[in-house]
Parts: sequence; structure tokens; C-alpha cells
Amino acid sequence: MFEFLKPAPPDAILGLSEAFQADPSPAKINLAVGVFKDAAGQTPVLDCVKRAERRLVETETTKTYLGIDGLPEYRARTRELVFGDAVAAERIAMVQTPGGTGGVRVAADFLASHLPRATVWVSNPTWENHVNIFAAAGLPTETYRYLNAAKTGLDFQALLDDLEGKARPGDVVLLHACCHNPTGVDLAPAQWTELAALIARRGLLPLVDFAYQGFGDGLHEDALGLRTLLAVCDELIVANSFSKNFGLYSERVGTAAVVTRDATTAAAALSQLKRAVRSNYSNPPRHGAAVVAAILGDPELNQLWREELNGMRQRIAGTRRQLVEALRDGGAGRDFSFLLDQKGMFSYTGLTPMQCDRLRSQFSIYVVGSGRINVAGVTPGNLTRLTQSIIQVL
Ligand SMILES: Cc1ncc(COP(=O)(O)O)c(C=O)c1O
Repeated sequence: MFEFLKPAPPDAILGLSEAFQADPSPAKINLAVGVFKDAAGQTPVLDCVKRAERRLVETETTKTYLGIDGLPEYRARTRELVFGDAVAAERIAMVQTPGGTGGVRVAADFLASHLPRATVWVSNPTWENHVNIFAAAGLPTETYRYLNAAKTGLDFQALLDDLEGKARPGDVVLLHACCHNPTGVDLAPAQWTELAALIARRGLLPLVDFAYQGFGDGLHEDALGLRTLLAVCDELIVANSFSKNFGLYSERVGTAAVVTRDATTAAAALSQLKRAVRSNYSNPPRHGAAVVAAILGDPELNQLWREELNGMRQRIAGTRRQLVEALRDGGAGRDFSFLLDQKGMFSYTGLTPMQCDRLRSQFSIYVVGSGRINVAGVTPGNLTRLTQSIIQVL
């Protein structure tokens, strides 16, 4: 039955991680992988998470299934964090999902069932799994232009032109709420306002992928794009993830939320989201969501989380500055200050595929071929070797 099977192409980023593991160099540097690292190069469990877990061990009385839509307290707290008071709770249909990936997939299945003629417009480039997920759900994707010619900043006019001229009413526009992956290039507040007006005028449906809340400018600030959309679009979809901002990667914690015009429609949307969940994985895992609910629901743990999140954000911002200065002082001969305008863990460096290849083969430095680096992979211990190597390949 299976003799015809051909191996699937390896995942570009996970393939690099495997090559990194196999590399015997003691000085190897991994800037390909998409997880936060502290100054020691570790991806730690947050203190607030450890404390919440200890409490849960003592107080949890059952591991019975959650409802199809997940833990009610978790959904209520997530709704507050993501939407604030921008939209009445009764207009939001939200289900807990396994990570942000699960959120995007449930949203995609929902769209495929109810807007089957829609095309999903994604930025070029976008998180590569977006295209896989929509293809798996049976929805076609098209790309809108995003980057300028140097591939280090936004070409906002090109973005507007594509959504104005090519997307059709009823199509879906996928937007990264903040900390665009893979580029780090985000919209400025005035650009969100202009884009939101275009989306509302042309009858497009925003699907907001919110995987890095708190990694850009702050929890509230990073929701500005979403709130700007909500001010003019009364229907939209959000997929959120707590993998990065709670460091809960492997616990798989996220949501999919559909914002509707009224409570009756929200109830119908919730029932349809639950149908999508039921046929995918029946109901979501408890632990990570219980941890997030415990932290967000407790003033002391909530405060600790905000401090730890600030710490992660500040480390990334500080590392961006150190990298730019070290490249300048080392004589890179090219201005890298655009890295300071980019947000979140990822950055497009403008390095060519050939330069990335040379970084790997000659210096054991692993960078995605597009030139994307994980800024959090840069540490005080590897900064000098990294910048000297970049300068050499330049
Ligand atoms: C833009 C974007 N969306 C969604 C996700 C999925 O996150 P999760 O690990 O929670 O599934 C990621 C993770 O890298 C991401 O970068």
C-alpha cells in the first residue's frame, strides 16, 4: 500500500536545527530556531509558571476531559488580555487550542466550512506554516507584497496596492498583530489606521495572528493593530499563542476567536468552532491553559509574569542595540540600524542565501537562508564571534 510514498521535503528551519545538533564545533551558534533564549543561551521555565505549577499539583483534583472549547477561566482571561475592552465579550466566540498553530488551523477549518470561496492573503514573506495550514484546510492562499527592495523594512504602498487591487470582497487578510515572523517588520500606528480603513471599505475579513504579545513594545502596545482593526471592522478572527510570552512552548496553549456583530451570531460561531475542534482533536490539553489561567487570575503571579515578560522583551531590545553597535564598531561597512526598528525575536538581516551558507559552512553559525535571525539567540558569550563572522562574509 505504501510503496509509492516519497519522503516529504524536510522542514527548512527544523532541518537546520538537526544540522546544528550534528555540528561538532564547540563554538557553534544557532540563530535559526524560534524560541526565546536568555543571556546564558537557555530557554528557561518562567518563575511564575513554576509557582503556578506547584499550586496546581496541590489543588488539581481531576484530569478528566475539558469541554470542547477548553477551560472557561482560561478563555475569559485570554479574552481580557487580547481584546481588553475593545469589543463586548458577548460578541466573541473563543475556543482554547493547542498553541497558536492549533488556533490558526481551527480558524482555517472554520473559514473553509463557511467562506469556502475565500482566498487567504498572506504577506510575502510570512511564517511558512501559514501556507501549509491553509492548504491542509483546503483554502487557497495568495501573497501581498510586504518588504522594501532591501528586504529590511516595509513597502506599505505595495501592501495597500495589492489588497486594494487584487483581493476581492469576502477574501481573508492574514495579518501579524506584532513582531512579524520572519522579518520583524511591523506597521506603524498610522499605517494600521490606513490599512484598517481599506480592509473595512473593501469588505475583507482580517485574520490576526497574535503569537508574540508583549515581545514588541508591551502587552497593551502590541495589541494596537488589533484594536485599530476592531474600531472599524465588526467581524474578524484572532489566533493567539502563549508559547512565547509564557515560555510554554511544549504545553501547547493558544486560542481561536471569532468576533461577530452580535451575541446570537457569536453563539452560532462558537458552535461551529467547536465542530472544527471536535473533528480535529476532540478537546484541548489542560495543563498549559490551567497554568496561564492561574497566573492571569492571581494578582501576585500576574505581576511576576509581567516582570518576567518585560525582562524577555528588554533582553531582545538590548541585544538588537548591541548587535548594531558591534557591527558598526567592527567595521561592517553597512548600516544595520534598521534592526532597531524591527520588533520581536526575529529580524531580516539582509544577508543573502550565499552569505548564510558561508556562515554555516565556515563558522558553524546557523541562520535561515532568507537571512532571518533569532535575535534572542545572540548572547554576550557569542556576540563578538558572531559579528566578526558576519563582517567576514559581508
Ligand atoms: C507567526 C506565528 N504564528 C503562530 C505560531 C505558532 O505558535 P505555537 O508554537 O503556539 O503553535 C508561530 C510560532 O512560531 C508564529 O511565529
